[in-house]
Amino acid sequence: MTSISLFAPARVGALDLKNRIAMAPMTRSRGTDERVPKPVVAQYYAQRSGAGLIVSEGVGISPGSFGFPNVPGIFSDAQVQGWRGVTDCLRGTGTRFFMQLWHVGRVSHPDNLPPGVQPCAPSALAAGRDVVTRNGPRPASLPHALETDEVWAVVRDYAQAARRAIEAGCDGVEIHAANGYLPAQFLHESTNLRTDEWGGSIEKRARFTVEVARACAQAVGPDRVGVRLSPFSAFNGASSADEPAVYEQLLAQLAPLGLAYLHVVTMEVAGHMTRQADAAGEPDVVGFARQRWPGVLIAAGGYDRAKAEHDLNAGRADVVAFGRDYVGNPDLPERLAHGWPLVERRMADWYGPDAKGYTDYRSYAATSATDAATEVAQESK
Ligand SMILES: Cc1cc2nc3c(=O)[nH]c(=O)nc-3n(C[C@H](O)[C@H](O)[C@H](O)COP(=O)(O)O)c2cc1C
Repeated sequence: MTSISLFAPARVGALDLKNRIAMAPMTRSRGTDERVPKPVVAQYYAQRSGAGLIVSEGVGISPGSFGFPNVPGIFSDAQVQGWRGVTDCLRGTGTRFFMQLWHVGRVSHPDNLPPGVQPCAPSALAAGRDVVTRNGPRPASLPHALETDEVWAVVRDYAQAARRAIEAGCDGVEIHAANGYLPAQFLHESTNLRTDEWGGSIEKRARFTVEVARACAQAVGPDRVGVRLSPFSAFNGASSADEPAVYEQLLAQLAPLGLAYLHVVTMEVAGHMTRQADAAGEPDVVGFARQRWPGVLIAAGGYDRAKAEHDLNAGRADVVAFGRDYVGNPDLPERLAHGWPLVERRMADWYGPDAKGYTDYRSYAATSATDAATEVAQESK
């Protein structure tokens, strides 16, 4: 039997990937106060261009979409220019760059939004957690429940953001429908109490994600649009009693759109942390998605090379995304290929503000060359 290597090419939507390694989307909070990516962002992604696919950090689709400080956006001309700086640096590397489109919904506070703007959500239910603001942690606010026509305006914001992402030189966009943010808030019964066309039945709760995907597909082409989901995770308090039925319905509604890919997060992680496994056993998210998704499947969450190649060879996934290991190992594909050690994970600088803990990690080759030079220098003393 021929085995599928992580280093074999793949076809995703309209694009050829040079290998089956994706860099998972990771918020790193290196945007200016105007939410433009700082120049160091281009260097960060260029350092990681060994990946077949890079999915950007979550990027705000509109001024009211943000939940955290210094997360960049994609709605102003300055932001498009900033992202063009990133995609210019990636040109010629052969890596594909999808921008993750993010609206946090209720997981926010007015301190993270323009003056006078309130967080919004399908229903007026607070997230029940603290959010980081520039003034320190604050309890997430009670959100404004979107009016029916306001929901359509948000759908249009996604489509406009997708257009602007392509204008900035991205190869495509990924809709962030995972981890309890706005699309997941519509999807789940704990966060959606609506009785209009956007709530009530599972089908109507799934509609927001489907309409966003459809609008983005119409704006930039279905083969340039992916969707990210975290089934069964209940992250940020978005959950339903019958999760399999919810995701079964959602995938059935998304499948006919002919999207570039579905990206799922396993139960091994909750957001950015490893999760304590449930003794009663975990749902197999990747297997669940594979059975119900006719197209390309990207799997993320707790992968190393052995587990990734196992899932590729078992036909469970087509591409595997790595998150935390990409923070400290810009040359992750080379390290995986050669079995070189990985740098220890260090959370301290995950969320900003500058180059420290961001672009100052070296490749293994550079580290060992420096170590060898230091040894020679010490020996000749
Ligand atoms: C610092 C950090 C920021 C993250 N930000 C995002 C994000 O913006 N969007 C998203 O979908 N997932 C985000 N995640 C989750 C990762 O994409 C990924 O699912 C998670 O780290 C599990 O993969 P891993 O085990 O390979 O790290 C983030 C994770 C980390 C560590």
